Amino acid sequence: MADKKAQLIIEGAAPVELPILSGTAGPDVIDVRALTNQGVFTYDPGFMSTAACESKITFIDGDKGILMHRGYPIEQLAEKSDYLETCYALLYGELPTAEQKAEFTGLVKNHTMVHEQMKSFLNGFRRDAHPMAVMCGMVGALSAFYHDSLDNNNPQHREISAIRLIAKMPTMAAMCYKYSAGQPIMYPRNDLSYAENFLHMMFNTPCEEKKINPILAKAMDRIFILHADHEQNASTSTVRLTGSTGANPFACIAAGIAALWGPAHGGANEAVLTMLDEIGDVSNIEKFIAKAKDKNDPFKLMGFGHRVYKNFDPRAKVMKQTCDEVLSELGINDPKLELAMKLEEIARNDPYFKERNLYPNVDFYSGIILKAIGIPTSMFTVIFALARTAGWIAQWKEMYAEGYKIGRPRQIYTGYTQRDYLPLDQRK
Ligand code: SDX
Repeated sequence: MADKKAQLIIEGAAPVELPILSGTAGPDVIDVRALTNQGVFTYDPGFMSTAACESKITFIDGDKGILMHRGYPIEQLAEKSDYLETCYALLYGELPTAEQKAEFTGLVKNHTMVHEQMKSFLNGFRRDAHPMAVMCGMVGALSAFYHDSLDNNNPQHREISAIRLIAKMPTMAAMCYKYSAGQPIMYPRNDLSYAENFLHMMFNTPCEEKKINPILAKAMDRIFILHADHEQNASTSTVRLTGSTGANPFACIAAGIAALWGPAHGGANEAVLTMLDEIGDVSNIEKFIAKAKDKNDPFKLMGFGHRVYKNFDPRAKVMKQTCDEVLSELGINDPKLELAMKLEEIARNDPYFKERNLYPNVDFYSGIILKAIGIPTSMFTVIFALARTAGWIAQWKEMYAEGYKIGRPRQIYTGYTQRDYLPLDQRK
């Protein structure tokens, strides 16, 4: 991969040659590992210009608005694939044959239940606890039930942990919701598809098991696909960094859930609905656009902007199409959609947003669909975490398969140079 070189000239020192590595797509990288021997570090807060790893799973071109999983464009996966098939591709590199798909689906179905004692964790939380707090706790606690398969260096243990996590996330997510609603927990059913099963566990009760609306199940499955993986974002980088210490996969995914919770990241989908509620009416849009542009105001237009996409987030486009489909097929006329579309139109024509290439991201429209499906706002980021588990665990598995070192960034130190201890009676 290294056929080009960069030369670093440091005053007073001999030039340093650094290999330039090329991937199969995207920018080249300058391999700076040799710099430690030169007594200097690179400095890149927020990792704006840093490739932290090599990966074959997901590729993003932020300028062209391209997102591919194992080379398959997200638009094609969203239209033609389903979530479990996408999980298979993320985990194993190829779309499954019919036989492989049936086997994988069967394997996931046989692991959807959680240990009955997992219910006890719920009782430790207030009913009004944020479901992301509960998910952090429950997913981390899963490792307590699988002492027989936590050897990360054993490929079979890595495999069964990946299956268990993908299979059990919908069950735990639904448990969180039912607990908050004071309703009995619904067990998974093996006769339902992945998305149908989730909606069954969320909205059915022991008193009545309604047939799951296929339109809603398809929309749910597509939302899972759109959130499945996204290169080295903050939560995926958290999973990799946690994994590099040898922590068990359940702890790594719990760390990813915690990182995703932030409103600048996965928490944005919940924040978009809260923002639309706050704006309330088209007549208030200009006021909130002004707030978003005001450097002295911490308010940001939630669901807008992205570290990588400086063009449309391709997921936002598919999400918007799905939004239109679901609302029209359900005959829902949600004023929030009108408000969101007007907000997008005004923002996209405002110089501040245009100059900074701020476009709607995956979170801008997702909440409106989730609301139409009946998912409460507080569960939006849980849905994101549920879907992203496939990407997190695929990246975690790749890290182990490709070899890794413990992640340990350095710093530029700007604190006090050495000074002597000051006895208490001499301090002013
Ligand atoms: C996700 O990384 C991923 O892949 C994440 C994700 C995934 O799938 O994993 O795609 C999921 O997290 C999507 C992003 C969801 N977050 C939001 O919608 C929250 C609102 N967006 C912003 O917080 C922001 O856009 C970020 C955090 C998403 C990106 O921040 P960056 O890359 O650090 O960009 P920045 O803050 O440096 O912004 C550049 C400029 C700044 O202004 P100036 O200093 O140039 O004057 O744009 C401004 C910012 O103030 N800006 C915004 C804005 N986003 C950026 N101004 C108003 N509203 C916004 N939403």
